[in-house]
Amino acid sequence: MQLRKAKNSDVQQIRALINEMAARVDEDYKHGHMLPRSLTELYEHIRDYSVVVDDDDNIAGCCALHSCWEGLAELKALAVDDALQGQGWGRKLTDAALSEADELGIDCVFTLTNKHDFFDKLGFKAIEMWKLPQRVWSECTNCPKFMVACDEVAMTFQGKEPKQTYIPAVGVNASPKARAALGLVPGAGMPGAVGPMNPDGFKPPFAPISHNGSGPVGD
Ligand SMILES: CC(C)(COP(=O)(O)OP(=O)(O)OC[C@H]1O[C@@H](n2cnc3c(N)ncnc32)[C@H](O)[C@@H]1OP(=O)(O)O)[C@@H](O)C(=O)NCCC(=O)NCCS
Repeated sequence: MQLRKAKNSDVQQIRALINEMAARVDEDYKHGHMLPRSLTELYEHIRDYSVVVDDDDNIAGCCALHSCWEGLAELKALAVDDALQGQGWGRKLTDAALSEADELGIDCVFTLTNKHDFFDKLGFKAIEMWKLPQRVWSECTNCPKFMVACDEVAMTFQGKEPKQTYIPAVGVNASPKARAALGLVPGAGMPGAVGPMNPDGFKPPFAPISHNGSGPVGD
């Protein structure tokens, strides 16, 4: 057995491993172990993947590290074939992803997982989900469990906190009318809500919402 970076020709086997895990259900028939992945996604993101292969180069495990924002990467699609579980390959794949993040200069690695105890053993700590930038939620909205049966927690390696960055909701050259409509122009509709393009300081309306839902989080 050995661990190596994935190749384009591994895609079919990676897909089979992940999607077989994803199709599994708990007794309540709600929760698969992980999200299924399409061929398109795997071919496009194959450089994110590391794999464990047997002596015949068959895939027996995989894990992806996806750079998704400033100083932030997601560890995802971690799977080890049933026959090899409990032999340390899950840990090796995770460690490889963490080393890669380090090489990329990425400080904060997070995962969204229902395997809290496993990641806890590997040095990950649960953090409140709202601390992750909204940019990372695009995958959640594709998940069949989104808002109805989500059983995942957000965890980061060593409990690191993602940098809070605000995404401008409108381009620098947007018309004054568009900026006003978004409350990014002082005095135009939303008192105090001036945008990130405004040099006077700002709290954009799309900043992370505090966990009690009371509004944008302070610095
Ligand atoms: C979770 C998974 C990747 C673990 O892989 P693995 O190769 O069995 O893990 P390892 O052998 O490297 O285990 C590392 C440590 O975690 C522990 N561990 C493994 N699975 C665990 C689990 N589900 N819960 C708690 N601890 C677990 C091991 O006992 C080991 O502890 P130790 O170092 O004290 O002996 C594997 O069970 C799997 O593929 N599950 C299905 C897919 C899945 O759920 N992926 C995660 C999606 S978020």
